[in-house]
Parts: sequence; C-alpha cells; structure tokens
Amino acid sequence: MLWFLFTLSLIPFSLSQPPRSVLIDCGTNASSVIDGRQWLPDSGFISTGTSKTLTLNNLFPTLSTVRSFPLLPTNLRRRKFCYVVPVYRTAKYLVRTTYYYGGVNARVLSPPVFDQVVDGTFWSVVNTTEDYGRGTASYYEGVFRAAGKSMSVCLASNTYTESDPFISALELVLLGDSVYNSTDFGNSSLRLVARHSFGYGGPIIRYPDDKFDRYWEPYGVNNPTTSRGENVFINGLWNLPPLKVFQTQLSVNRSQPMEIQWPLEPLKDSVYYIVLYFADDTGASSRSLNIGINNVTFYSNLTVPQSGVALFANQWPLAGPTKIVLTPATGSTLGPLINGGELFEEIPVGGRTHTRDVIGLNGLKNSFQNPPFDWSGDPCLPKENSWTGVTCSFGSNIRVIGLNLTSMGLLGSLSPNIANLTALNDLWLGNNSLSGSIPDLGTLRLLKTVHMEDNHLNGPFPASLANIDGLQELFLQNNNLTGQVPSSLNAKLGSNLRIVPGNSLLVP
Ligand SMILES: *[C@@H]1O[C@H](CO)[C@@H](O)[C@H](O)[C@H]1NC(C)=O
Ligand SMILES: *[C@@H]1O[C@H](CO)[C@@H](O)[C@H](O)[C@H]1NC(C)=O
Ligand SMILES: *[C@@H]1O[C@H](CO)[C@@H](O)[C@H](O)[C@H]1NC(C)=O
Ligand SMILES: *[C@@H]1O[C@H](CO)[C@@H](O)[C@H](O)[C@H]1NC(C)=O
Ligand SMILES: *[C@@H]1O[C@H](CO)[C@@H](O)[C@H](O)[C@H]1NC(C)=O
Ligand SMILES: *[C@@H]1O[C@H](CO)[C@@H](O)[C@H](O)[C@H]1NC(C)=O
Ligand SMILES: *[C@@H]1O[C@H](CO)[C@@H](O)[C@H](O)[C@H]1NC(C)=O
Ligand SMILES: *[C@@H]1O[C@H](CO)[C@@H](O)[C@H](O)[C@H]1NC(C)=O
Ligand SMILES: *[C@@H]1O[C@H](CO)[C@@H](O)[C@H](O)[C@H]1NC(C)=O
Ligand SMILES: *[C@@H]1O[C@H](CO)[C@@H](O)[C@H](O)[C@H]1NC(C)=O
Ligand SMILES: *[C@@H]1O[C@H](CO)[C@@H](O)[C@H](O)[C@H]1NC(C)=O
Repeated sequence: MLWFLFTLSLIPFSLSQPPRSVLIDCGTNASSVIDGRQWLPDSGFISTGTSKTLTLNNLFPTLSTVRSFPLLPTNLRRRKFCYVVPVYRTAKYLVRTTYYYGGVNARVLSPPVFDQVVDGTFWSVVNTTEDYGRGTASYYEGVFRAAGKSMSVCLASNTYTESDPFISALELVLLGDSVYNSTDFGNSSLRLVARHSFGYGGPIIRYPDDKFDRYWEPYGVNNPTTSRGENVFINGLWNLPPLKVFQTQLSVNRSQPMEIQWPLEPLKDSVYYIVLYFADDTGASSRSLNIGINNVTFYSNLTVPQSGVALFANQWPLAGPTKIVLTPATGSTLGPLINGGELFEEIPVGGRTHTRDVIGLNGLKNSFQNPPFDWSGDPCLPKENSWTGVTCSFGSNIRVIGLNLTSMGLLGSLSPNIANLTALNDLWLGNNSLSGSIPDLGTLRLLKTVHMEDNHLNGPFPASLANIDGLQELFLQNNNLTGQVPSSLNAKLGSNLRIVPGNSLLVP
C-alpha cells in the first residue's frame, strides 16, 4: 500500500478505482496534457453551471475557460454548486481551487465574492479582487479527509456576492500517510494560510520538486543566503517537504537574533497548525537556537541537524501580525537559520448527513428525471447550504426531517430508497408530474404530513401508511391510485385524508 501513497501517480481516471490525483480544467470540453500531467474537462464531475471562454490572449491554458454559476435570487443565495470527485475513503487529500476572473461577468468590474465548501465543511470565502487587480490568478488550498467514496467541492453565493460565481481549475491530490499526520482530520481540516521557502527568490517550487504539487512561495528574497543544499538530507521529515526548500535559507550571524514577520498578512483570531523546517548544511552540530512566536516560546535549544528537522504545533492560537524570533541558544557557535514554513488554519469539520438519509435522497435524485440543480454534495451541511426542499435536524446525528418539493415541475418516479428517510416528519411532493407507484413507506415511522396530490401516480393505495401512529395529514387527490383505503386510516384522519377527485379507490 505504501508505495503508491508516496508517489504522485499519473494514471488516468478510471471508473473502477479513483486516481491518485485528479486535475480538472473547469469549463473546457477536452482533456489536455500540461507539463506532463493530464487535465480533464469538468463535465464528468458536475452537472450544473455553464462553460465560458475568457476573451484574453496569452493565458495559462487552465485559466482560459471557467465554469460559471448563475447568481441566484436572495432567497436561494446559499444554494451550492458542487463538483463531485471519486476518492479513496478515509484518505487525505490536498484540494486546490484556482480562480482567474478575467472579466467574465462583463457587466460588472470587480470579481464576485463567494463561499467555497468541501463536503459538509465551510472552507473559506473566495475574494480574488486583490489578485485580479495585480493581474494574477488566486488559488486556495486545503487538506481534507475523504469521509466517503467521493468528495464534493462546492461554490455558493453569500450575502456579498454581486455577480455569477466562477471557477477556473480544481485539483485533488492524494497525500502520503505521514503528511500532516499530527492533525486529527476527523475533527479538523486545514486551510492553507502560508507556505514559503525562506531566502528563496525563484518561481514557486511545486511539482515535480514537490511530489504532491504543493506550492512553496518565495520569501525573504531581499536577504537571501544560499546554502550548498547537496549536503542536506531530509528523508525523515513526515511532511515530505521538497529538497529544494532546503537549498536556500534565511540566516544571520551569531551575534544577533533573527526576526521575521511571517506570514506577511495579519491573521484572524483562530487556532493554527504551524510547522517550521530547518536543516544545517555545514555539517556542524553546534548550531542551536531558540524559537519564539510573538512573545511565546515555541521551542528552546533546538540543535539543527544536517538531516533536517521540522518543528510543529497543533491548535496554536494566533491573531494579528505574527513575528518569529530566532535567537542563538547558549553555547551555539553559529547563528540561527530557517529554511521553510507552513501555516494552516485548523477549521472544524462540518460532519456529514446520516448515511441512510443520503442513500434515500440519492435514490430519489436518480429516480427524478430533473432533480433540483443543487442536489449534490452533502444534503444538510453546511447548515446554510442544504439542498433545495430539504430540512434537517442537527443533533448528534444529522437527519433529514422534511422534504418539500411542492410545485417543482418534477418528472420521473419515486425510488423505493425513499424508505431510508426514516427521520422524515413531512413529505410534500404535491403538484408535480411524478408517475409510477408509491413505494412502501412503512419504515417512515415519524411521518406527520404526506402530500402527493396533483401528480400522475398510479398503482395501489399506500396501505403501509396505516401503521404510522403519528400521521395527521394525507393528501393524494388527483392521481390514478387504485385499491382499498384501510378503514383505520379513514377513521383516524377524517377530513385530513384527501383522495378525491381522481383515483379509483374503494373506501370502507
Ligand atoms: C470545444 O470547444 C471549442 C471552443 O470552445 C469548440 O470550438 C469545439 O467545437 C468544442 N468541441 C466539442 C467536441 O464540443
Ligand atoms: C474583497 O477584497 C477587496 C480587496 O482586498 C476588499 O476591498 C473587499 O472589501 C473584499 N470584499 C469582501 C466582500 O470581503
Ligand atoms: C506520522 O508518520 C510518521 C512516519 O510514518 C510516524 O512515525 C508517526 O508516528 C506518525 N504520527 C502520528 C501522530 O500518527
Ligand atoms: C474530536 O472530536 C471528538 C468527538 O467530537 C472528541 O471526543 C475529541 O475530544 C476531539 N478531539 C480533539 C483533539 O479535539
Ligand atoms: C556576518 O558577519 C560577517 C563578518 O562580520 C559579515 O561579512 C557577514 O556579512 C555577516 N552576515 C550576515 C548575514 O549578517
Ligand atoms: C511582546 O512584548 C513586548 C514587550 O514586552 C510588547 O511591547 C509587545 O506588544 C508584545 N507583543 C506581542 C505580540 O504580544
Ligand atoms: C542545549 O542542547 C545541547 C545538546 O542537546 C546541550 O548540550 C546543552 O546543554 C543545551 N543547552 C541548554 C541551555 O539547555
Ligand atoms: C411546502 O412548500 C409549499 C410551497 O412552497 C408550502 O406552501 C408548504 O407550506 C410547505 N410545507 C411545509 C411542511 O413546510
Ligand atoms: C403547480 O406547479 C406549477 C409549476 O410546476 C406552478 O406554475 C403552478 O402554479 C402550481 N399550481 C399550484 C396550484 O400551486
Ligand atoms: C434503503 O432502502 C432500500 C430499499 O428499501 C433497502 O433495500 C436498503 O436496505 C435501505 N438501506 C438502508 C441503509 O437502510
Ligand atoms: C389516469 O390514467 C388515465 C389513463 O391511463 C389518464 O388518461 C389520466 O390522465 C390519468 N390521470 C392522472 C391524473 O394522471
């Protein structure tokens, strides 16, 4: 198992097993090979939105098309548009979204601001205004654990969104087992804030130097010190940083402490996973240092080995500007140095809707010919972004308690999997064009109201509903149902049982 976890594979997408990495060029209609890696068109991963081509020349190929999503009216604002990508269950993925606006919403000048979501977890707000002003694309990176056999990456308008959200590229890369393994991914996902190679001034370090294609940006180029690099061995570092990061460093003489403002932007008040990388290329064992972050001791008397070392902390609270201070430890004959650093915000995992309910809703989605456009990704989560017509309860289990698709123009039939929605209180499917028979609903013990009036349903009356104690309302008029209405039901519901006009039912 281990050999492939440590290799970025280029095996093309296959249906039987998820690939190790999936590179999706959004809005394009053909696959392409860029720098030796295959990019796929996005049509196999999403069924909503429209493709648009930017009318700019000389764009990097993956930026020249986008998928664009309509700005919804205020009351539907938070509906999500999801890519669904096959993954290995419980594996850890680096997810990167890339946005290059390119003026695609011609009627407005500045790019839209919107949310991005992975499965049930709110990831971040996307605001590309500043990068776009500088003429560059924006990218966002996070590390998420796959809860199921697919992972959804979704965009949703928020209250700041003023024009259609869009996306240029989406990448999922399977990470090695040991990478970032000190994080409890069952509780936290990681949102990248900064990843830098210190003392480096070249182009972003990425694949193939970094086998997982993480981006290491240059930092501190005004004061670079280049080390010989070839004397550095870094095989032992769990996060598998690329060797190239250790070929440059920031360092100072022994006589003085080194202070770096990193990252450059002030941070929001939160908890962070912070990891700093050091390697001594001189082979001297006498370089030791103390590390402080703001005024808090991060580590004392670190002896920097030639084989490299990573210092990390989880749940480290930070807010505002961040200053890293490196001072020589007592007895150190050499000044401090540092090669690289990564900083992630730890964001709470949103959880997932109960599997039974997911099976039930997916069954219906497949049996409807025209399911609502936003029926993909997690049905209930994030709370603000649940599916059209779906109401949930958010206790220890996240359950679907209401399904209301009244007057949605639905075609198709009712999947027997509806029987899995066992927490349902209200089932409203009235005034659609549903046909076929009504499946067994006897497992839906908590039903209170059922509306299926004004459809083309046929077959026998759903007698299974007679056994549901709490049922208060059953509307089935204007269908083509046949058979006998149980007398107990007739007695219990009285005028809240509606079966005429339409139907050919025998009433006791
Ligand atoms: C793909 O898109 C290009 C332009 O966007 C168009 O010229 C071409 O016909 C399309 N190909 C297919 C197979 O749809
Ligand atoms: C987006 O970013 C720009 C530039 O940083 C900022 O002026 C603007 O307020 C941001 N928009 C939102 C909604 O946060
Ligand atoms: C992380 O991976 C390394 C290398 O496989 C292993 O030695 C270490 O125990 C792991 N740490 C955790 C917290 O699982
Ligand atoms: C993770 O979540 C579980 C259950 O919600 C909790 O018991 C556990 O303490 C959490 N672990 C951490 C490190 O927060
Ligand atoms: C360290 O000190 C030496 C001699 O004083 C000087 O030449 C060199 O530039 C100094 N290096 C740094 C990084 O300050
Ligand atoms: C660090 O300590 C100095 C002096 O003790 C103080 O002026 C400064 O505000 C502190 N900085 C932080 C980030 O706490
Ligand atoms: C720092 O560590 C070195 C080697 O581990 C040790 O010899 C030295 O006494 C330590 N110094 C302090 C001040 O703890
Ligand atoms: C279902 O939606 C319809 C139409 O929007 C509305 O009239 C009805 O009250 C809703 N039912 C429930 C249980 O919310
Ligand atoms: C039934 O649904 C259609 C949309 O499919 C809508 O136009 C019509 O007004 C609805 N009828 C009633 C009585 O709500
Ligand atoms: C979902 O419903 C189908 C059809 O009733 C049933 O065969 C299946 O066992 C159910 N699955 C779960 C997890 O309840
Ligand atoms: C009931 O079935 C008949 C014959 O199959 C059909 O003509 C009629 O339109 C159906 N009624 C409804 C409400 O679907």
